[in-house]
Amino acid sequence: MKTGIDLISFYSSNYYLDLKTLAAARGADYNKYAIGIGQEKMAIPPPDEDIITMAASAALPILQKIDPKDIELVLFATESGIDQSKAGGLFAHRLLGLPSRCRSVELKEACYSGTAALQMAMAVVQRTGKKALILASDVARYELGSPGEPTQGCGAVAMLVTRDPRILAVDLESGMYTEDVMDFWRPNYRDQALVDGKYSTRVYLNALAETWKQYQELSGRSFADLYRFCYHLPFTRMAEKAHERLAKTSGQEKLSAKALQEQLGDTLHYNRITGNSYAASLYVGLASLLDHATEDLSGKRIGLFSYGSGCAAEFFSGVIQDGYRPHLFAENQRKLLEGRTELTYQQYEDIYNLPFPTDGGKHTFAQYRTGPFRLAGVSEHKRLYEKIL
Ligand code: CAA
Repeated sequence: MKTGIDLISFYSSNYYLDLKTLAAARGADYNKYAIGIGQEKMAIPPPDEDIITMAASAALPILQKIDPKDIELVLFATESGIDQSKAGGLFAHRLLGLPSRCRSVELKEACYSGTAALQMAMAVVQRTGKKALILASDVARYELGSPGEPTQGCGAVAMLVTRDPRILAVDLESGMYTEDVMDFWRPNYRDQALVDGKYSTRVYLNALAETWKQYQELSGRSFADLYRFCYHLPFTRMAEKAHERLAKTSGQEKLSAKALQEQLGDTLHYNRITGNSYAASLYVGLASLLDHATEDLSGKRIGLFSYGSGCAAEFFSGVIQDGYRPHLFAENQRKLLEGRTELTYQQYEDIYNLPFPTDGGKHTFAQYRTGPFRLAGVSEHKRLYEKIL
């Protein structure tokens, strides 16, 4: 029985900082960002947007197309959680009007948790025939002026997981890899990640080699059996390096720029202008591929590599389903990204430095441009969300 992604929807902030602006403020060469790491813009959440509002905004278009009462599982994947106890999916559950007969938990393992959610959701869906909603949502935040700063970003992907999916039927075989390493982490008392940047890229590539080796052995498939490749995207140049490495490991001739562009290019468009969205990032790449491929991808097998620092990784694949195109939300995503507001450097720094109230008092947040949901304020340490449609 086929299971996999029935619908997929991407949402990001309505605000961004152009990396030309950041380069000027840091005295850096813009080409280091645009070519060296492959990023042009980074999405910045305004003070009334957070992982919950982004996740709910990503999910709403999906819920408008289905009967929500079929959803019996909500998995919220994030590494920028807003509460040490309560799962993010519970806030989203109310905002989205989901049925009370539902399981809901939050999953964490850096950027890998979206894939853990997908695998767990498929197991439940296979057993019950019901539907699962995955919400992968993150804000990537590093210290101002640090090497990680130009790789910040934010975004959320919502995925409906069902039997006989309309978008991607996921194959059974997976290569998996876990190792206790300190390449990137965020202790509970910090709101910015700590990272050993160069080391993290080496661990990423090693995890790719390990998972790919297993995937090949288990599936009997080779590099040539996969039509396109989606990688976890901390920044787009990382995926290009990963793909070059995978091709080499698989005994391919050195990839030409044309082949690299063909096999990978369409997966990178959204990330290049929104930045890292951690748990959502791999699936932002998948949405980008589906929305931008000019050819019909029906029947094509796609390779997916998920990497979460710390680290856990997985290489798996899936087949794009016949007639997938009318079920995409490409038009929503185009409108959002084309209609964004550019921030000045000062506005970016002001938003970055704005402290979140922790005194337990009542605070109302100024209204910025958001999707259909916003964080209206906080009172008695409780976040207050509202629907603004
Ligand atoms: N024109 C063109 N290219 C230029 C350039 C210029 N003017 N100046 C520099 N470059 C190139 C460099 O040659 C280098 O290329 P190579 O990687 O091919 O050698 C590239 O730009 C980057 O330059 P640096 O190596 O000097 O960059 P850096 O040390 O300042 O930072 C980074 C790079 C370590 C990736 C940093 O951005 C970082 O720490 N990022 C956060 C961590 C991260 O994203 N890690 C990825 C793997 S971990 C993961 O995937 C999980 C996750 O989501 C975080």
